[in-house]
Amino acid sequence: MKAEISIARETQELEEAYLLRWTILRKPWQQPKGSEQDELEAESITVVARENKLIVGTGRVHMAAPGVGQIRYMAVAGEVQGKGVGKQILCMLEEEINKRGAQKVFLNSRENAVKFYLANGYTLVKEVDKLYGVIRHFLMEKSLLNTHIEPI
Ligand SMILES: CC(C)(COP(=O)(O)OP(=O)(O)OC[C@H]1O[C@@H](n2cnc3c(N)ncnc32)[C@H](O)[C@@H]1OP(=O)(O)O)[C@@H](O)C(=O)NCCC(=O)NCCS
Repeated sequence: MKAEISIARETQELEEAYLLRWTILRKPWQQPKGSEQDELEAESITVVARENKLIVGTGRVHMAAPGVGQIRYMAVAGEVQGKGVGKQILCMLEEEINKRGAQKVFLNSRENAVKFYLANGYTLVKEVDKLYGVIRHFLMEKSLLNTHIEPI
């Protein structure tokens, strides 16, 4: 499946992306609305994937340190998971942060998503604190050096 991928810039599309984040990443764990956002939204890049105009996937990246990006809030709607949408979002997040000078990205992956990140070139660094005391979480990273083939 090939979704339409773009950077969310309008308030309306950001709101739609936050709702999807909350539905996929927070609601199943009884977390309140608002818990799907943090203080870095304004300086982050939020990518959305659309199918028939509806947002079906989203992810976010920000510069966590000079040259180092952090990906957070990867969420694909249940009915379209496993069809390549997550991969498209991840590629755009990596590309965008790479353009802004990141040579490396890291993220904290839930246990269920580790295979997804491994399939996309990430390395498992170590297990970190459990999310909500129950979800196993793993620090993973990827080098963005040599991501682009320079024209001769
Ligand atoms: C994790 C998530 C973002 C992945 O997005 P997705 O659209 O389902 O994944 P894709 O279809 O793009 O998968 C890309 C690759 O990863 C593999 N993959 C995806 N999920 C996988 C899984 N659970 N187990 C094994 N492999 C998986 C696919 O086989 C595919 O590999 P391929 O290109 O070699 O065939 C999505 O499933 C999701 O939102 N899950 C629930 C919320 C969540 O856990 N988010 C991550 C928080 S860290």
